Amino acid sequence: MNGVFGKPNVMLGGASVWKGLVDGPAQVAMIDALRDVVAAAPLFRPRTRWGKEMSVRMTSCGRYGWYSDARGYRYVDTHPAGGAWPDIPDCIVALWHQVTGLERRPDCCLINLYSEGARMGLHQDRDEADFSFPVLSVSLGDDGLFRIGGDKKGGATQSLWLASGDVLMLGGASRLAYHGVDRIRFGSSSLLSGGGRINLTMRVVD
Ligand code: SIN
Ligand code: MN
Repeated sequence: MNGVFGKPNVMLGGASVWKGLVDGPAQVAMIDALRDVVAAAPLFRPRTRWGKEMSVRMTSCGRYGWYSDARGYRYVDTHPAGGAWPDIPDCIVALWHQVTGLERRPDCCLINLYSEGARMGLHQDRDEADFSFPVLSVSLGDDGLFRIGGDKKGGATQSLWLASGDVLMLGGASRLAYHGVDRIRFGSSSLLSGGGRINLTMRVVD
């Protein structure tokens, strides 16, 4: 299931990684487009079902946004402040089609902002209806130490530093792999003026 970019240049525990796929100007274009998204749908800090505030700030664009509170993880039609989510910027949707080779558009693009000290614990992406569609993730800004295991909790894991412009796909046998981000190298990239790492995650939801 590879699109115009062909095969990944790194495999990480079944996940496909295209290191350096998004070049510098395309990264800047994505950040510019995301500025409008965040102006319309401000970043917020979700809480887990157990009431713990996440260290990552988030927002979404697309038909659905990803959300979490005491009722658990789920997709919602509107931003927590009310109002529909903005459209996914064309340059980001185009990358999805090019890498996955799919005609189907993503329903949601989750935007995660990792400021200094932020991390994300190991989890599965399993709030979607059809796991035959891949999850495509784009790293922008500071380096992040990505960790991936298998589809069972507690197994062996592997780690890889994801840099700005790297694209990672969880699909097929890796679609339900546990994954997370242990830490970022704050200030390692100058893409974001305030430093930090943005991760975009595109998914088909319905
Ligand atoms: C996520 O799994 O939601 C984010 C992964 C990442 O930040 O690379
Ligand atoms: Mn995830």
